[in-house]
Amino acid sequence: MIDGLYALLARLGFDEPLHSPITHMPIGLVVGALIFFLVAILFKRKNLILSARHASILALVFAFPTILLGVFDWMHFYHGVLMPAIKIKMGLAGGVLVLLGAGIILGSEVKLKTIWMTVIYALSFVAVMGLGWLGAGIIYGRSLGTPTAASSSAQPGEVPVDGKAVFASNCQSCHGNGGNAIDPAYPLKGSKKLASLEDFSGFVRKPLMKDGSEGSMPAFGEDSLEEPAVKALYEYVKGAWN
Ligand code: HEC
Repeated sequence: MIDGLYALLARLGFDEPLHSPITHMPIGLVVGALIFFLVAILFKRKNLILSARHASILALVFAFPTILLGVFDWMHFYHGVLMPAIKIKMGLAGGVLVLLGAGIILGSEVKLKTIWMTVIYALSFVAVMGLGWLGAGIIYGRSLGTPTAASSSAQPGEVPVDGKAVFASNCQSCHGNGGNAIDPAYPLKGSKKLASLEDFSGFVRKPLMKDGSEGSMPAFGEDSLEEPAVKALYEYVKGAWN
């Protein structure tokens, strides 16, 4: 069902994560709440305490669709693999919900409950910054940069498959920049699986760890990647990172 949603959006020309655009709503409102509160206590503007609370209410409202779309993106682009950054993000997101709830309940009176409220607003701020930082780390990997080179060498009469495009829609989320967002010990860069098309194709079709057990990488069968696509993908990956 989730993949259907992304397929529909891709057909409409939107082929991007859904969490990133909406995440600005709760993050911006949490930042706003902290600023309203600090101005309220520094300049003794009691009515701004309510502004901080209203910003928190809106942040809480937007937190739910933001988390939901984050889970959708995670299922779709990362196949629901629980990497450390995702676990931390889940913990932080839960923390933000609790903090927002507490802030809304405790901040309902126009009084200066300075210390507790400062702690709550400041912690929410730190937590949303952490969420954004981890999210960017997952998407961009450790360093930015697009691989150069590589095109497909289709035979005459064969429809050329764009290896780079195949990579972008199937592998990029976990192997951006030739690395490995889930398990950094297994980057594409310099992988022995790139030695031959057979080795590569064998692994992509049925990724197994050295001891023969299943790892976290999803298998790409004929139904998701046909033979010419694997070939184009191999040429692209080899050209870019071998
Ligand atoms: C959901 C994340 C994910 C996706 C998507 C993914 N991989 Fe992987 N890949 C991994 C993980 C994790 C490993 C480490 C082995 C394991 O756990 O299965 C890995 C390992 C590899 C390796 C072996 C690296 C080594 O150490 O030798 C190759 C080659 C590879 N992937 C290619 C691909 C290609 C090509 C695609 C796209 C068709 C792809 N992967 C899509 C997560 C992913």
